[in-house]
Amino acid sequence: MAAHPTVHAHYGEYREEKDVGFKLLALFLGLAVGILGMVAVWMGISAQNARDDARAAAKAAPTATTSMPGMAMPSSAEGARPTPSFAGIAPANADALAAAHKAYPAALPATTPGPVLNVHIGINHRVLSIAPGIKYEAWTFDSGVPGPVIHARQGQTVRVTLTNHAPMPHSVDFHAARVAPNKDFVDIMPGKSFTFSFTAGDPGVFMYHCGTKPVLAHIANGMYGAIVVDPSNPNLLPPVHHAYVLVSGEWYLNAPGNKKPASLDMVKAHQMTPDWVTWNGYAAQYVKHPLTAHPGHTVRFYVVDAGPSIDTDFHVVGTVLERAWLDAAVTDPPLHNIQTATVPAGGGGIFDVNITKPGLYPFVTHSFASVDMGAVGLLNVGDVSGTMSH
Ligand code: CU
Ligand code: CU
Repeated sequence: MAAHPTVHAHYGEYREEKDVGFKLLALFLGLAVGILGMVAVWMGISAQNARDDARAAAKAAPTATTSMPGMAMPSSAEGARPTPSFAGIAPANADALAAAHKAYPAALPATTPGPVLNVHIGINHRVLSIAPGIKYEAWTFDSGVPGPVIHARQGQTVRVTLTNHAPMPHSVDFHAARVAPNKDFVDIMPGKSFTFSFTAGDPGVFMYHCGTKPVLAHIANGMYGAIVVDPSNPNLLPPVHHAYVLVSGEWYLNAPGNKKPASLDMVKAHQMTPDWVTWNGYAAQYVKHPLTAHPGHTVRFYVVDAGPSIDTDFHVVGTVLERAWLDAAVTDPPLHNIQTATVPAGGGGIFDVNITKPGLYPFVTHSFASVDMGAVGLLNVGDVSGTMSH
C-alpha cells in the first residue's frame, strides 16, 4: 500500500529519480542533437501555425460566459493562462509545524436535550493554515474549516442564526433540511443576521455549505461543514465506543501560500486540479495527531465530502468497513463488509470498523492522487507508538 504518513517525504524521492533520468536523457540528446534540431525547426513552424489557427477560432467563437443564463462558465481567457500545481510544497520545518498544529477536533460532539437545537454561526474571512507552512485566505463558518459539527436528534427543530461579519454576502444551505431555498437559504448582507428553522426529519450525516453564487468559490474557500442527525430509533445506528466526523475538501491555490497567503484560483477549481485535499481542513493532520481507539471497540466514521467537485472513496487500510450506510440512507440492515465506499461530493456516509489487532490504520480516499495532496490520517488502535513505514 502506498499510504504516505507524510505527504512531503515522497516528493524528495521523486526528485532523486528524476535527476538520474535527466542524466540519461542528456547523454541521449548529445548524440541526437543534429536530428532533433531539424525536427525542432519543423515543430516550431507547425506550432506557430496551430497557434494562429487557435487564435482565429477563438475570435470567431462566441464567448462561453454568455451561453447559459445563470451559470458561471469559465471564460476562454481563463483557460488560456497557466495553472501551475503547488501540491506538496513544504518548508524545511514542516514536521515541526505539523506537530505544533492543533488538529481539528474530529470527535462527534454530544447532542442537546429538548425539542429545539439553537445553532449560532458567525461568518468570517480569515487566514488559515491548510498544510504545514501553507496559508490561505479562507471564508469560514465560525473560525475554521470545516465549520462547527452540528449534532441533532431526529425530530428536533434546528434553529439556525447566521451573523455575517464578512464584507460580502453569504448564506447557508443545509442538505438535512426540507425547506424552500429561496426563503431560507438566502443571502445575508454584511453586518446582518438571519434566523430560520428546519426539522431534522432525516437521520444521517449531511453537508451544509454556503449557497451564495458562485457556489464553487464559496465552498472552495472553506464554507462547509457537517450535521449529524441521530435516528429516533436507536437500533438503526447502534451505539459505538468512538465516533469521529471527517469532512474532505479540496483547495485550489493561486500561489504556493508559503510566503504570503494564497487565495482561490477559480481556473484550477473549474479544472478540478486541487493543490491540497484535506480531512477537516488541514493536510494529513491526523497523521501527526492520530485518532484513537481501543482494540475490539467499534469506531464509527461520519464522512462528508464537501468537494466542491471530487468524490471521496473512503477506505481504511488494514480492515474492512463492517457496517456502511451509504449517503444519508440510514437503513436496516446496513451494508456489510465493504472495502471502499464512495462518498459523493455533497454527500455523506457512515462507516463502522472494529479492529482487534493494535496498530496504525490509515484512513484515506482511495483516489491516491488526493492522498498525496493530504487526504490521509491515522487511526491508532491500542495506543501503539511509531509511525507508518510506508
Ligand atoms: Cu459564502
Ligand atoms: Cu448543496
